[in-house]
Amino acid sequence: ALVVRHHMRSSGRWAKAMAIVRELDEKCGTPIGKLMQVADAMAVEMHAGLASEGGSKLKMIISYVDNLPTGDEKGWFYALDLGGTNFRVLRVQLGGKDHLVGKQEFEEVSIPPHLMVGTSDALFDFIAEALKKFVDTEGEDFHLSPGRERELGFTFSFPIKQSSIASGTLMKWTKGFSIEDAVGQDVVGELTKALERVGLNMRVTALVNDTIGTLAGGRYYDSNVIAAVILGTGTNAAYVERAHAIPKWHGLLPKSGEMAINMEWGNFRSSHLPLTEYDQAMDAESLNPGEQIFEKIISGMYLGEIVRRVLCRMAEEASFFGDTVPPKLKIPFILRTPDMSAMHHDTSSDLRVVGRKLKDVLEISNTSLRTRKAIVKVCDIVSVRGARLSAAGILGILKKLGRDTLKEGENLKSVIALDGGLFEHYTLFRNSLESTLKELLGEASETIVIQHSNDGSGIGAALLAASHSQYLELEES
Ligand code: GLC
Repeated sequence: ALVVRHHMRSSGRWAKAMAIVRELDEKCGTPIGKLMQVADAMAVEMHAGLASEGGSKLKMIISYVDNLPTGDEKGWFYALDLGGTNFRVLRVQLGGKDHLVGKQEFEEVSIPPHLMVGTSDALFDFIAEALKKFVDTEGEDFHLSPGRERELGFTFSFPIKQSSIASGTLMKWTKGFSIEDAVGQDVVGELTKALERVGLNMRVTALVNDTIGTLAGGRYYDSNVIAAVILGTGTNAAYVERAHAIPKWHGLLPKSGEMAINMEWGNFRSSHLPLTEYDQAMDAESLNPGEQIFEKIISGMYLGEIVRRVLCRMAEEASFFGDTVPPKLKIPFILRTPDMSAMHHDTSSDLRVVGRKLKDVLEISNTSLRTRKAIVKVCDIVSVRGARLSAAGILGILKKLGRDTLKEGENLKSVIALDGGLFEHYTLFRNSLESTLKELLGEASETIVIQHSNDGSGIGAALLAASHSQYLELEES
């Protein structure tokens, strides 16, 4: 009798756990109709954000990049890429038309977590020091024309209100950064002061978002690139807009007639987004409640955390991992998206990668196969929602540009440059994004290409530093 009662109890728990998974699946549902609504809402918000400053949750930031690199850029340039858990310094030699990017050297430094929530001076001093060390490694072939200073393209991947190609103030932090005294400051000014403090002579000639850098880097190799999307720690998109279609732009009309726009789509929000109690709780407890909602259900910083929250509820309400809730499971952000991805991609018959991750990351051992299968299912639900919503965002851009349908006669090829760790490493996410975009576009999908633009943002910043060089006119004359 005892054995029977135990069995009943455990099957009751299992049923409860499965009910939680089923409910998650329903709440995260992204049928095509819903994705179309999201894409339409995105296009509407794009219009609103371009019409007036503050007209939409989409900031639609004017980048001051009105000329994308052509391939004529020449000489040695530096770039600095700050925007996630790591920052990178690069040195590239641009060779002009026939040679394009020649030599490139880079170094990656991880940012100590305390600097992400400290002071502006502390962060920028750290960066300036690292840059200085990197400059010290210049080789024999490094060369600047006499009288020329080193020039740097600064990729700073947070919302910046640009006031020129090489200046702009920080509007707010995203992605787990929170350095109060930097908000409202010109980040080029902050960096320049830090460079002076460490005694490094270098001029910042371009300040760009990673999406803008990726767009520039992509366009350098392929003139059909019209937009760039980052799927990494955070998510965002940039695209090339007709200057005429930007009512809030009161400056001179650029010669090219075009302007690159940093959408800051991470802050998109719509009643059509499938949000769950887990998203709501995560948002409420975040550093930036109510903000970056699209980002919080799509990007790498958050996907693993959503899965953790679901598993935590299953443990609490359905004793999914036994009588007690595993203590580690209660620690926010302990389950990172790379761990989630590893579990999701486990193809072994006994799901031993899932078993190992549970043990190593959460200190949960002796899980049954069906338990592991249920966990993979949770990973699948959460990542597929993110991937499909990203595809809907891309469709929104194509709709805004009138490139989402086939037209008689001219069928322009549209290339979207994608970059970021989530896109690069989470294969199932990427596959789902690509197949969803095909599904959404139907026959028009023939003209749309998703292109992985590896490290476009760093190279792109160097290219923009070059095309906005202080010495350009000297060279040309
Ligand atoms: C966040 C930032 C945005 C950046 C994106 C990807 O959304 O606000 O500027 O482009 O992350 O790194």
